[in-house]
Amino acid sequence: MFKTETIYIKILIFLLIIFSNDFIYGQAASQGKNDPGYRPLFHFTPKKNWINDPNGLVFYKNNYHLFFQYNPFGDKWGHMSWGHATSKDLIKWKEMQVAIPEYKNSDNTTTMIFSGNAVVDSFNTTGFGTKRQPSPLVAIYTANITKHDTGIAQYQNLAYSLDGIKFIQYSKNPVLDVKAKDFRDPKIFWYAPEKKWVMIVSMPTEHKVQFYSSGDLKSWTFMSDFGNTGNVDRVWECPDIFELPVINSKEKKWVITVSAGHPQEGFLAMQYFVGNFNGSLFKLDKMQYPLYVDYGKDFYAGITYNNIPGMHKRRIMIGWANDWEYANDIPTKGFRGMMAIPRTLSLKKSADGQYLLLQMPVVELEKYRSKILFDKKSAFDLKEFNDLNLTGHALDIEFEIPKKTIGKTGIKVFKHGNEETFIYFDAVDNMLKIDRTHSGNVSFNGKFPGIDSVLIPQSVDDLKFRVLIDNSIVEVFINDGEYVLTDLVFPQKRNGLVQFFATNPEGMQFRKVKVWQMNALIK
Ligand code: FRU
Repeated sequence: MFKTETIYIKILIFLLIIFSNDFIYGQAASQGKNDPGYRPLFHFTPKKNWINDPNGLVFYKNNYHLFFQYNPFGDKWGHMSWGHATSKDLIKWKEMQVAIPEYKNSDNTTTMIFSGNAVVDSFNTTGFGTKRQPSPLVAIYTANITKHDTGIAQYQNLAYSLDGIKFIQYSKNPVLDVKAKDFRDPKIFWYAPEKKWVMIVSMPTEHKVQFYSSGDLKSWTFMSDFGNTGNVDRVWECPDIFELPVINSKEKKWVITVSAGHPQEGFLAMQYFVGNFNGSLFKLDKMQYPLYVDYGKDFYAGITYNNIPGMHKRRIMIGWANDWEYANDIPTKGFRGMMAIPRTLSLKKSADGQYLLLQMPVVELEKYRSKILFDKKSAFDLKEFNDLNLTGHALDIEFEIPKKTIGKTGIKVFKHGNEETFIYFDAVDNMLKIDRTHSGNVSFNGKFPGIDSVLIPQSVDDLKFRVLIDNSIVEVFINDGEYVLTDLVFPQKRNGLVQFFATNPEGMQFRKVKVWQMNALIK
């Protein structure tokens, strides 16, 4: 009798775990233990269908809002609308109803809701606020229309919300139209010194961004433009501009980010520019451009939050973990597309006067470390670790190695038979690399397999790794976020081995190694 009860209780607990997981992450087509459905555990994915760029990142009514490019009807790009999710901590998300759907026009054309941004209109400059809801949430997005006679048109529209969930289209849209085919992805913010709204928006094919200002978010005046520098191989999309603190100093600098070409020709990445912004004009600091935000192939369309509490201390970016080169083909099941882990940004001034963007996962992620699988401060041999045969599919890993090594030194994850994703420092060319050529399913698109790399300057002594792996994504943060690489991978077996590796293992020591199992269900 007693035994049967225990079994029932165990079954109940098991079912509860499964269903709560399903509730939070919508893993309805849930993965069996070895079924690589590729849905990550602690990264945002939609319950179903296609997503691309994050949009309208804003803190409003005690929630972080994440709007995103969404196809409500399928798992490939199309019918672009704004999907919506909210979160208390940027890690655990609750998916909401579609916020701004595509709509039909009177001439039977369709307006797709392309990327854009949202602000809290605390001073009710728009007049959309009411007595009960004095601070409306105002979104400005790109309306994309294919006209029968003139082809594509893009201009900026406004929609607002009083509850952060349902949006009302502004009756006098558009709010900014320069009669261009390519004119998109507005990001707006409040420029406090002059009490005005500023918009940065892209002229993609001209490789430049433009600045506009407004008192009411409805009528906009051109101020200046910036561009045609750095990498201009591909169109410029999804710009952002913000002020960042320079660590270990009182200094602050302005940074422009833009989604454009990749260090490897034929791919997409984000670049950044450092300088000053006086409310109407961005003045670029002389540095060695292009500078890239992330050297992997899967970090794009990243923008930062508006209005977050403690804003002066934190600037948080979310990017889409994918690359247009193969985004429609990735072999995930039931959904297509995920967001990279939200990152806190700052700047570091190097000895030679260059400003370097620092990016680290938001601290909230640490709450989701459920169990420490390995923890050793002192240096030890790689054999000692590898003999443990540690496996995992959702892990947070830290370790350090000296840079003065010979050959290749690093870690292999998702290792099963001949499959592995290899993250290593290569002393031959001083590059930090992710090799996904044998990472699992790489055949769905010829451009997917390959090696990504970033040059580590001679002046750097030791390498401190933070590696996040989550079913189909690997994010690598080196030396507190000075160098970052994000890559998707599709291992055929879910639970692979984690192993250290050195082509010259003699005396090779790994230090401060910590491996946590991640568990998104624990608060
Ligand atoms: C960037 C982008 C944007 C556009 C959106 C359309 O990934 O091309 O420029 O607004 O995607 O979905």
